[in-house]
Amino acid sequence: NSIKIFAPATISNIGPGYDIFGLALHGIGDTIELNWVENNRIEIAPIAGFPDIPLDPEKNIASIVAQKMLNQVNESRGLRITISKNVMPGSGLGSSGSSAAGVAFGLNQLLNNKFSQLELIDFAMQGEAALAGKAHADNVAPALMGGFTIVKGYQPLEVFKIPFPEEMHIAVVHPQVEVKTSEARKLLPDRVTLEDHTKQGGNIAGMIAGMTTKNYELIKASMQDLIAEPKRAQLIPAYEEAKATALKNNAIACSISGSGPSIFAFTKTESEANLICEVWEALYDKHQIPTKTYTSLINGEGCKVL
Ligand code: HSE
Repeated sequence: NSIKIFAPATISNIGPGYDIFGLALHGIGDTIELNWVENNRIEIAPIAGFPDIPLDPEKNIASIVAQKMLNQVNESRGLRITISKNVMPGSGLGSSGSSAAGVAFGLNQLLNNKFSQLELIDFAMQGEAALAGKAHADNVAPALMGGFTIVKGYQPLEVFKIPFPEEMHIAVVHPQVEVKTSEARKLLPDRVTLEDHTKQGGNIAGMIAGMTTKNYELIKASMQDLIAEPKRAQLIPAYEEAKATALKNNAIACSISGSGPSIFAFTKTESEANLICEVWEALYDKHQIPTKTYTSLINGEGCKVL
């Protein structure tokens, strides 16, 4: 009658893979509890001590996704959704994606696994579309599937997972200014030149080859984005400085997490990831911007029942 879910935070885009690449962070994410209620309404239950989330079911991504699923199966019961939100909204760490994916996954369990994983990604993605203006699955896919995922196409939706260097670590810093994905998407160009397409495509291919063959040099060389990073860097305080500092401290590569403001770096070891978090903290301290840092392995699991 009720279920509790862990839904991971995610990093999307990952350099050149705008709306394509995503990965699940290990052990960083939200806890979501779902309870059937008898009054055919969906309610979001507030919890003290966690970041404010919209309580209006029309505005919260979790209830938007749940409503779509319940409509599809003609379910007359309602649902109470309680979210312990550890991934701050507007952080670029897939906060809305983890709510959307967690509810899709949990509700599917309550509905005796009526939907396939791809259908769950689709439901969760429709929730993202309701908030960000356009459907993107690069956060909800890794949140549901775990690991490193690729959205191969949107029409029809096709998603797969690739192998990755399991010992690779990730350092993440969240400088606490809010960036709305819908706004950050408006900055991007509608068109790219043929020359940029070729470079971006080469980098996407290089990233996949680098991840699957554990070729760190290739990952480093391919973590270049000609489309989103140049436009969005301005939304993130001291972005260039933070990136240069990470690379100076042995990061394999560094870029914007999702639509920002979080920044991530890949490293070969845990101690390198920890060190980069320390230098980032010092840097943002100097700029008087509060931060949160995280380190993680790249092998985050997808949503799971707790
Ligand atoms: N791919 C999306 C974007 C992710 O960059 O807008 C948002 O978290």
